[in-house]
Amino acid sequence: MNVLLTGGCGFIGTNLIRYILENKPDWKIVNLDLLTYAGNLENTLGLEKAYPGRYAFIRADIADSRAMAGIFSSDAFDLVLNLAAESHVDRSIEDAGVFIRTNVLGVQVLLDAAVKHKVKRFLQVSTDEVYGSLGPEGKFREDLPMAPNSPYSAAKASADLLVRAYVHTFGLDAVVTRCSNNYGPYQFPEKLIPLMVINASQGKELPVYGDGKNIRDWIYVDDHCRGIVAVAEKGRTGEAYNLGGDAEKQNIEIVRLILERLGRDESLLRYVKDRPGHDFRYAMDFSKSEAELGWRPEVDFPTGMRKTIQWYLDNRTWWEKILSGDYQSYYERMYANR
Ligand code: NAD
Ligand code: TYD
Repeated sequence: MNVLLTGGCGFIGTNLIRYILENKPDWKIVNLDLLTYAGNLENTLGLEKAYPGRYAFIRADIADSRAMAGIFSSDAFDLVLNLAAESHVDRSIEDAGVFIRTNVLGVQVLLDAAVKHKVKRFLQVSTDEVYGSLGPEGKFREDLPMAPNSPYSAAKASADLLVRAYVHTFGLDAVVTRCSNNYGPYQFPEKLIPLMVINASQGKELPVYGDGKNIRDWIYVDDHCRGIVAVAEKGRTGEAYNLGGDAEKQNIEIVRLILERLGRDESLLRYVKDRPGHDFRYAMDFSKSEAELGWRPEVDFPTGMRKTIQWYLDNRTWWEKILSGDYQSYYERMYANR
């Protein structure tokens, strides 16, 4: 199986490449990544040597149709796994343009290339955020109408609609995964869990948006990776599959847990101005994936958090290199006036 995996130098892509190389010995991967601020080539260092003939890297932009034409002409892909995206909600509030370019236009370019070059299956990695926000009750099901609330989630929802249209209009064999909030190794330190672990380990303040009571359903990244492969192998054409962690937590519960694990007290907690349009609650009904694919999350939240916190403590140089780059000025912009 010849796989084109996009966004493989980001958080989930890095974990997915490793999962596939270890668990799918007859799959070969071409990792296509633009290396934006979120793409870190160091994440995949050594894979060419460790898995000879099974892994290659190409730096390219999924929204560049000429580059995609060249890449799809030079190799015959059986499967495209599209993870490349701008992924941070706060950045989409600052500047939506690049989100539309990569998350919408980029998907259209990839879909056109997949149709033209007769790719056997296309899998779009989407998000629970396309469904919008829940109140205290209920869960997201695949048959709910999409109701995205941020420029990020609106762009992701647009991509889901494009995938649907290419299945119906061009007969492309495509599937969509919609997953809840991931955590685990290699997550860029702008997202809640790595940011809080790193700040706590350095004795810096932990910026909690609003009252800290917003709820996310957290999934350990390996469970998401297993779900993506299950949908690629067994999902029905044109269908979307929810993947969730069965672990709803308020943000403040997570922050307190991190403080406790790092032996810090609550004086580091800092409540800051809320995110505009902040979705209150996400929760996944993944019974369709369970029934059709035999998939369910396997890593419970305490175990996943233990592993994740340990990874950030053991891999200090990984995040120190990121913090010393232009992430720093982004951090200033984001938090200086709160
Ligand atoms: P990430 O921001 O860590 O990584 C994104 C990667 O895409 C980076 O390596 C970046 O360089 C690359 N990229 C960005 N623009 C590109 C372009 N134009 N061309 C090629 N490569 C480009 O994101 P992540 O958290 O790993 O998320 C991966 C996918 O999973 C995204 O599609 C995201 O929407 C989806 N998702 C993420 C979560 C989550 O909790 N992180 C949950 C559900 C779904
Ligand atoms: P995030 O990791 O950005 O994921 P998403 O917005 O896609 O769910 O944020 C997770 C939750 O944590 C969200 O409710 C916003 C909140 N949050 C904070 O309270 N402080 C922070 O510094 C960050 C980055 C997020």
